Amino acid sequence: MFINNTTYIQNIMKAAKYEEFGSVEVLELKEVEKPTPKDDELLVKVHATSVNALDMIFRSGASLLFGMTKLMAGFKKPKHKILGFDVSGEVESVGKKVTKFKKGDLIYGMLKIPGANAEYVCVPEKFTAIKPVNMSHIEAATVPDTGGTALTGLRDKVSIRDGQRVLIFGASGGVGTFAVQIARTFTTEVTGVCSTSTISLVKSLGANDVIDYTKEDFTENGRTYDIIFDAVGRRVTSYSKCKNSLTENGIFVTVDPEAVMFKYMLNKKVRGYMGNVNGEKLDYLRDLIEAGKIKSVVDKIFPLSQIAEAHRYYEEGHPKGKIVITLQD
Ligand SMILES: NC(=O)c1ccc[n+]([C@@H]2O[C@H](COP(=O)([O-])OP(=O)(O)OC[C@H]3O[C@@H](n4cnc5c(N)ncnc54)[C@H](OP(=O)(O)O)[C@@H]3O)[C@@H](O)[C@H]2O)c1
Repeated sequence: MFINNTTYIQNIMKAAKYEEFGSVEVLELKEVEKPTPKDDELLVKVHATSVNALDMIFRSGASLLFGMTKLMAGFKKPKHKILGFDVSGEVESVGKKVTKFKKGDLIYGMLKIPGANAEYVCVPEKFTAIKPVNMSHIEAATVPDTGGTALTGLRDKVSIRDGQRVLIFGASGGVGTFAVQIARTFTTEVTGVCSTSTISLVKSLGANDVIDYTKEDFTENGRTYDIIFDAVGRRVTSYSKCKNSLTENGIFVTVDPEAVMFKYMLNKKVRGYMGNVNGEKLDYLRDLIEAGKIKSVVDKIFPLSQIAEAHRYYEEGHPKGKIVITLQD
């Protein structure tokens, strides 16, 4: 079929693709076909996206959650060739069943099937919300996955309440920086645990107390908490290590559900969970952001052409807040 040049150019876009599982070298900038939204999706011109643990899991083909991640990312070869779960951008068009958004809306959202490491991506309406007016796209792109995961953990999994004493383990990372701020929207007393170089950052987010894990083990100082929120995962800490630091009805909640799924299934003091970010959670976060109660912490910004460097920087393991990829100047 003959397609004239203008149509061809309108239908292609730049994207970071990967054809094989592996280290950062598998990521390559390519020209690919622009996606078409399904009935319940928005086609979004991506302004910014951010780097998340899920990108690393999908890129490397790691088998986690009892093989569930392979089911999502692919067994031998990547099922989805473009990464990127967080998106902030402008709606270019909408599918015919979309009711809440229209062309030109500035939105932020989280994809269940990645694809935001590209100039355009389709986002299901139910995982999208209007972007906070007081955030740039770069700032808004930091929120969905890690902000949503922090919210799910504190609000939905352990029903955080006024007057509680809360400890955030990993307070300087993507999930942790949001967790500290979300906890502080309640009249809670928040202790952040981080390393020396991020103490002032964690204090600036509202933590009442900060423990430097390179100098002090919080499980040995005799203090107790109503909630211990493990925002590090990766088995760095555990319920058995933290249990003496919990109050009588205290709960240990972790972003690593695999670590506790079967072992503590019947123990009411232990919870592991998935973020399950959706439009409702993003609306809730937007209200807090616009009320000035939550800000984003951007550590480093990379253009899409440096996606491999961005992944490498994340994998070094000590970002201060979030790493963002920009697609527009
Ligand atoms: N369940 C879900 O749906 C879900 C969603 C998103 C993320 N996650 C998980 O959440 C975790 C955090 O993700 P993220 O993107 O926030 O990661 P991140 O930005 O890399 O943050 C990691 C945090 O861990 C801290 N840390 C690293 N090594 C440590 C150690 N030995 N002792 C104490 N703290 C240490 C870092 O602090 P320093 O730099 O100060 O060392 C930093 O605050 C990951 O395991 C990820 O897989 C789960």
